[in-house]
Amino acid sequence: METRSQWGTRAGFVMAAMGSAVGLGNIWRFPATAYENGGGAFFIPYLIALFTAGIPILIMEFTMGHKYRGSAPLSFKRINAGTEWLGWWGVLVAFVISTYYSVIIAWAIMYSIFSFNLSWGEDTEGFLFGDYLNLTVDPGQTGSFVPSVLIPLIIVWVVVLGILFRGVKRGIEIANRIMIPTLLAIFLIIVIRAVTLPGAAEGLNAFFQPDFSQILSPGVWVAAYGQIFFSLSIAFAIMITYSSYLPKKSDITNNAFITGLGNSSFELLAGIGVFSILGFMAVQQGVGVDEVVAGGVGLAFVVFPAIINQFPAFNELFGFLFFASLVLAGLTSLMSIIETYIAGLSDKFGWSRSKAVILGGGFAAILSLLFATQGGLFFLDAADYFINQFGVAFIGLIEVIMIAWFLRKLQDFKSHANEVSDMQLGPWWTISLKYITPVVLGYMMFGLFKLNLLKEFDSDNGNYEGYSDMFILFGGWAVAAGALIVGVLLAMSKWKSPNND
Ligand code: ALA
Repeated sequence: METRSQWGTRAGFVMAAMGSAVGLGNIWRFPATAYENGGGAFFIPYLIALFTAGIPILIMEFTMGHKYRGSAPLSFKRINAGTEWLGWWGVLVAFVISTYYSVIIAWAIMYSIFSFNLSWGEDTEGFLFGDYLNLTVDPGQTGSFVPSVLIPLIIVWVVVLGILFRGVKRGIEIANRIMIPTLLAIFLIIVIRAVTLPGAAEGLNAFFQPDFSQILSPGVWVAAYGQIFFSLSIAFAIMITYSSYLPKKSDITNNAFITGLGNSSFELLAGIGVFSILGFMAVQQGVGVDEVVAGGVGLAFVVFPAIINQFPAFNELFGFLFFASLVLAGLTSLMSIIETYIAGLSDKFGWSRSKAVILGGGFAAILSLLFATQGGLFFLDAADYFINQFGVAFIGLIEVIMIAWFLRKLQDFKSHANEVSDMQLGPWWTISLKYITPVVLGYMMFGLFKLNLLKEFDSDNGNYEGYSDMFILFGGWAVAAGALIVGVLLAMSKWKSPNND
């Protein structure tokens, strides 16, 4: 008898997959990543990564979840018992991401409240690092808890775990059906206002102006693949888990195209909105756009508040809408990130959903408290940097090589997807996964490793200087290696659930 949870409707699944894809990566990361990696010229590696890796891997992961009906570890185990560790590796990367992703949402909650009276004042940078985050310790030290981060963080966990507790159909599906249309409406209002601001054209010029000198750099290509993988929620267990809840008769290929193209459209829209607003700021100050652009934390929590101060009208409202859109986009992604280990733990150990939510989610919530301390931002920045530069894109590469070359499953998956889908997969899909992705991504990643990883770690990329080499080596690589080792150990432990052989 089929006991696995299922989505209620096709639209429910697509909305949830889209909710997972559209997240902080789209609004918070994409605009700055594109700008730093060649502006308009970045779209070449970005589009190549989308069509030869992003959408093909999304179809592959949807097929795996649908065909093997399991969380990532269970699906990999059902393909071949020797590859279960790869499923756990993705789950563990998702686990690490959830511990700090939740914290950024907590900041955004506070900032949407701060918007009501623009409490960040004129010195938005001083406000973020001093008044709000209380960042007075050295990198690697924790200091004490910061209550204004801790309290919203607890709220984030209570809300998300509460939704997951209610299950796939009554929890995740309903939450996405409410949050995603709301997010879209809010975001359209912001973008329409943004492109009609004076100076918007200057911002868009800076965004789209191609800098072809960067296009051959391996770092740019790895950034493009990393962005696509993180943004599409592929290679870290999510889409395999979500598609394992699809009913038997479900279209795969069409749904993957809707999700992939929808996510990239949203990303582009975010880039257009953000750069129009940056152009407005630059013109107000009489400086170039390059002087106002910032990456990551700086963009959303320093530059945006400063710009909101200067909005011609309704400043508080636009501040609120912007941070509320971050909260909504973040929450719908966070629930999918956590669902990977809820599903993995229930499948492996036969735990009920409630037990997996309490133990798995509770453990992640406790670890996330590290980022709610005075030194939290340094830890967060280091974790995010490593996960993105090396974690997600690297797992994506290994996953593709494993499925295409070692397990030789592409033909099998293609027949499965074609059987249930309207749109038929042709040679494009197989060639992309078997040859293009391993060659392009593998080559570029190898090039990046050669370029000396530590040199990449500097403040130009939106990261903070001041880490010792030891901290980077032990912090970053220990987490990466630790995830792999724990993954192998989990794969070696016994399956306790009777249905999952
Ligand atoms: N796909 C999610 C994001 O873009 C994780 O933030």
